[in-house]
Amino acid sequence: MSGYYFSMIPQDVPQVVSKHRHIKTQIPVPESLPFFSDLDRYESRSMHGQLPVVWDRAEGYQVFDPWGNCWIDFTSTIFVTNTGHANEKIVDSLISSINRRLLHTYTFISKVRAEFLKKLIEILPAQFEKAFLLSAGTEATECAVKLMRLHGQSIHPNKLGIISFRGGMHGRTMGAEMLKGDPKQSEWIGYMDPNIYHLPFPYPWCAKEPGNSQYDWGQHFLADMENLKFKGMKFENIAGFIIESYLGWGAIFYPEAYIKSLVQFARQYNCLITFDEIQGGFGRTGKLFCYQHYGVEPDLLCLGKAISGSLPLSAVVGSKDIMDLPAFGSMSSTHSANPLCCAAALANLEAIEADNLIEAAAAKGALLHQLLQDIKNKYSHRISYIFGKGLLAGVLFKDPQTGEPDSLFPSLVCERAMQKGLLLVHTGRESIKIGPPLTIPEEALIEGIEVFAESIQEIENESAKS
Ligand SMILES: Cc1ncc(COP(=O)(O)O)c(C=O)c1O
Repeated sequence: MSGYYFSMIPQDVPQVVSKHRHIKTQIPVPESLPFFSDLDRYESRSMHGQLPVVWDRAEGYQVFDPWGNCWIDFTSTIFVTNTGHANEKIVDSLISSINRRLLHTYTFISKVRAEFLKKLIEILPAQFEKAFLLSAGTEATECAVKLMRLHGQSIHPNKLGIISFRGGMHGRTMGAEMLKGDPKQSEWIGYMDPNIYHLPFPYPWCAKEPGNSQYDWGQHFLADMENLKFKGMKFENIAGFIIESYLGWGAIFYPEAYIKSLVQFARQYNCLITFDEIQGGFGRTGKLFCYQHYGVEPDLLCLGKAISGSLPLSAVVGSKDIMDLPAFGSMSSTHSANPLCCAAALANLEAIEADNLIEAAAAKGALLHQLLQDIKNKYSHRISYIFGKGLLAGVLFKDPQTGEPDSLFPSLVCERAMQKGLLLVHTGRESIKIGPPLTIPEEALIEGIEVFAESIQEIENESAKS
């Protein structure tokens, strides 16, 4: 999210009164402006650039401001609130924890930490036997790198190489930024870890004709690896791969054959495989984890965001052998396994199961993608691709004249949709992402998609006039 400044001048917009949305004021709301100017004054601008809506309350699939406006939420606060905003089970669990007066324990043990870990390991596939809890996703990805390197070093002192994908997102701390392989974003670090290597992302258009089922993606992966070898990397020195389960900014999945070839390679050279499921996990794509779409079994998972559906919690999970590589008592973090976060996360996992949210995401996701295909067919001069699975979609826009990626049009669409009572994920790139809570009623999902289509049409009409 960067590069586009949403207008802070209140606009007269048509009033909206529907079952799922209310827009009653100018947008942005004039009374909200002092809050924005306080934040401009007291907070680093690096946090800013989001759609100018002040959140007062969020429940289920709706967001309310203090002035009577209400939006359908297609962001899930960036894929956190899969079980719905303020899910009742989570709220009840938090209230009872607060009433018990247990807000923090550091690494002292709490009952709820043991209960949550037991539940987490129970619902995970069998190879994930132990977890390490942290607070932010970026800590989890750094922890996975540490575990992969400790594992590599247990085989040979030089087995330290980490392979990630250019353009991926693994967080914003130093190691995580190095994994991104974006020279601009990691310029501030001043050097590059010589044992981190980046593969180009296998975009569908690399296959010359996107969708070409004959294209040999397995060979494509091996050719990219040979390229790294040519630049000096030794295959036997690779400790592991870290793979964002899909490329975040566009919800772009890897070709299955590419991932299968990667896994075969990793097994041959005794490298570990980590899937970063921080964004795609916990039912979002119609499976518990997104890696399950590829038909492979990784060694480590990074989890975050929707693990708790609310409070800050992240985790790395893996086999006992890998998770116990760090020495006894050698890893801790002040806020990890906070009892409130664990209480929220336990209730969250129970809600995913009790409300069959994974199945719901698959079924509603089929509807979402069908509706989006209709929009793509209508605006094929503007929309180049629709990606994603389940209740996750990335809509990629192009300039109708040049066919080049267009980042302005989707920013204008996000702004217009906000004025009409719909919150979309503004990426600042040529994409808009869609990810409502998995609990969204079908009717509200359809209404939200209609608003998305209307917003495209209005911006299209206005572009034609100007
Ligand atoms: C795939 C992925 N990994 C890691 C992170 C970093 O998580 P956090 O912002 O909690 O540090 C993100 C955040 O957007 C993400 O999408």
